[in-house]
Amino acid sequence: AALAISSIPLKGFAAVIAPKLPIKAKPLPLSDVRLTASDYATAVEVNVDYLMSLSPDRFLHNFRKYAGLEPKAPIYGGWESDTIAGHTLGHYMTALVLAWQQTGNPECRRRADYIVDELALCQAQRSDGYIGALGRKTKDGKVVDGQEIFPEVMRGEIKSGGFDLNGSWSPLYTVHKYFAGLLDIHSAWGNAKALEVVIGLGGYFEKVFAALDDKQMQELLGCEYGGLNESYAELYAQTGDLRWLKVAERIYDKRVLDPLVAQEDKLSNFHANTQVPKLIGLARIHELTGKDEPGRAARFFWERVTQHHSYVIGGNADREYFFEPDNIALHLTESTCEHCNTYNMLKLTRQLYSWQPDGALFDYYERAHLNHVMSAQNPHTGGFTYMTPMMSGAPRGYSQPGEEAFWCCVGSGMESHSKHGDSIYWQGDDTLFVNLFIPSKAEWKAKGVALTLATEYPFKPEVGVTLDSVNNGKFTLALRIPAWAKDRALVSVNGAPVPANAVNGYAVIDRRWKKGDTIALTLPLDLRFEAAAGSQDVVAVLRGPLVMAADLGPAEMEFTGVEPAMVGDNPLAAFAPIVSDRPRFQTRGVTRPGDLNFVPFYSQYDRRSAVYFKRFSEAGWKSEEASFLAEQARQKDIAARSIDVMHLGEMQPERDHNLTSEISYPVSYRGRNGRDARSGGYFEFTMKVKPGPLLLLQATYWGSERSRVFDIFVDGTKVVTQKLDNDTPGKFMDVDYPLPEALTKGKTAVKVRVVPHDRSSAGPIFGMRL
Ligand code: AHR
Ligand code: ZN
Repeated sequence: AALAISSIPLKGFAAVIAPKLPIKAKPLPLSDVRLTASDYATAVEVNVDYLMSLSPDRFLHNFRKYAGLEPKAPIYGGWESDTIAGHTLGHYMTALVLAWQQTGNPECRRRADYIVDELALCQAQRSDGYIGALGRKTKDGKVVDGQEIFPEVMRGEIKSGGFDLNGSWSPLYTVHKYFAGLLDIHSAWGNAKALEVVIGLGGYFEKVFAALDDKQMQELLGCEYGGLNESYAELYAQTGDLRWLKVAERIYDKRVLDPLVAQEDKLSNFHANTQVPKLIGLARIHELTGKDEPGRAARFFWERVTQHHSYVIGGNADREYFFEPDNIALHLTESTCEHCNTYNMLKLTRQLYSWQPDGALFDYYERAHLNHVMSAQNPHTGGFTYMTPMMSGAPRGYSQPGEEAFWCCVGSGMESHSKHGDSIYWQGDDTLFVNLFIPSKAEWKAKGVALTLATEYPFKPEVGVTLDSVNNGKFTLALRIPAWAKDRALVSVNGAPVPANAVNGYAVIDRRWKKGDTIALTLPLDLRFEAAAGSQDVVAVLRGPLVMAADLGPAEMEFTGVEPAMVGDNPLAAFAPIVSDRPRFQTRGVTRPGDLNFVPFYSQYDRRSAVYFKRFSEAGWKSEEASFLAEQARQKDIAARSIDVMHLGEMQPERDHNLTSEISYPVSYRGRNGRDARSGGYFEFTMKVKPGPLLLLQATYWGSERSRVFDIFVDGTKVVTQKLDNDTPGKFMDVDYPLPEALTKGKTAVKVRVVPHDRSSAGPIFGMRL
């Protein structure tokens, strides 16, 4: 008989005094952990090949060019040819460090050192401490050296939008990436030149910020700045020079952070990935200063995001924005779960854990790491996702090999898949925590322990740990018992059940160990439902930590079915296991419109999935069926008839549709993003058209808008003068504008331009489709 574990001491063992867990913990160094065969090891292998396929000289192109040095190789395309250029080099430096630590591949370290040498050359050439590849767009659309915006900023000329600062795309976000890469190289193997370069760069921006009063500083911080506060805090940590800490504390966006310090969730309609790094920075400041407020804000943010703003795979945000808490079921779209957000949430989770080890933090970590991060790299190609759709039937979009996309999530992706061993083992005092059950070998040098973790988890329930060598035999082993396994986990040592108590989510085994000891953990991998935060009738299926998805067919085939639903009082009883090396189930009569195969979500790289299901009783389904199917059909019909959809006010779609504008700004209302332009301004974008007589341009407005008048032009021809005056109070409304055939005949795209009348505004418009 083995022992059941619960986070509350079991009755039978109440008399046993629970061993105390250490107050703090830190991860075993990544270089002391080696992955053995599993999907994680494959991911690292594929990613290292990808890193090696990239050219440092191409990433360095603008750095050299803007410093007045001849570039050694052509510039990369995609985002690296936009004004955010250089952000990928920052990620690349960090990824090389991690990959070197994770695999020992010497070429990773050589490349990182080479990049530092090159950046030092560029810095010497410029002589003011600055280095950079970031650009600025001129009026005629050219990209020039973005450094010229900083003297303007220092003069108080600050034109700051969510993602634009004086014509440059989130420049401080990009600067943060340089800092992070260089600081990582310095701390990994003591490359002193990397620290010199970062000190020069730190001094340059210290001067920029010093020129601004507090109001100007807040204006500046209205534009995304990544985790630049964390970088300055880290620079303080690595140099001990207090001047950097002062800068770190001044990089504080009050609008977002004050409510979090006050423990208020006002996250809705804020761009998610702009915010997470700010809290990582506050967490670092807390670590270094012991100040309470920044730490409390970080913890509160983590709690709100993971419990009230996250999907079952651990990702968050719809079209990059947070929405109202506990509203997941209303945001099951194709643009959910940006990878960068989760990459950052996992960093924050590690910070919180190091302050006070608690298994619940790693329950989230495991969920997001296994189901989101692992889904975000396609191991067959090495490509990365940007979004991971939670909408049934939507395919994932991976970057393609050789494609020069270089989105933000390609950068965070190359980091995530360099370090799958970094959070498995943690040490604190005399305790070794095993937090993730990933096949690996590790050394716990502090205690002279070497161990092997072997398992086919999460597909199979058994996890085995063998102590390969033991120097000082007295220590505590703490195995995480996930909350879903409560009361049903089994633990034994050398085949005998052990009186381990569960403390803070851990089975804690405190004894004198010897070489060859084996520890066996068995976790109950049953199927269960989990409701979407805020909606009991919308559920996902899990098996242990694995999110299971219904397989809706290959990604390359259009999905023409209706969104599946779950029916009956106990549908999980009708999931029949199918013999397979990985979990696979077929439903028998409980899913509509028909039976489905359920498989692990993360590895559905080239498939279409359904993760969330509306749940009905038999009777409920009958009465709902007609309207449910009618609504599904209506949605499908609109989608099928849509030639092009423009999500106004959202960065990526606006870039894709070549949006240009003046005196115009993005807005959010009732969870919907849109765009407005004030009197004297406009916004214009391209939309695809198809041949055919019945083209409708459809615009969505908030029905309570009053006294708005504006014109809509298509290729220079006025289609309508639209007045909005409280037409459908309290509801969004769609308005259709039939386009005369002559306007679109023979064309593949048209320009749509929206111009407000004098002293009015252009809507706002919450999306347009053709
Ligand atoms: O603006 C830079 C990055 O690009 C953002 O953080 C991310 O969300 C976006 O897509
Ligand atoms: Zn991203």
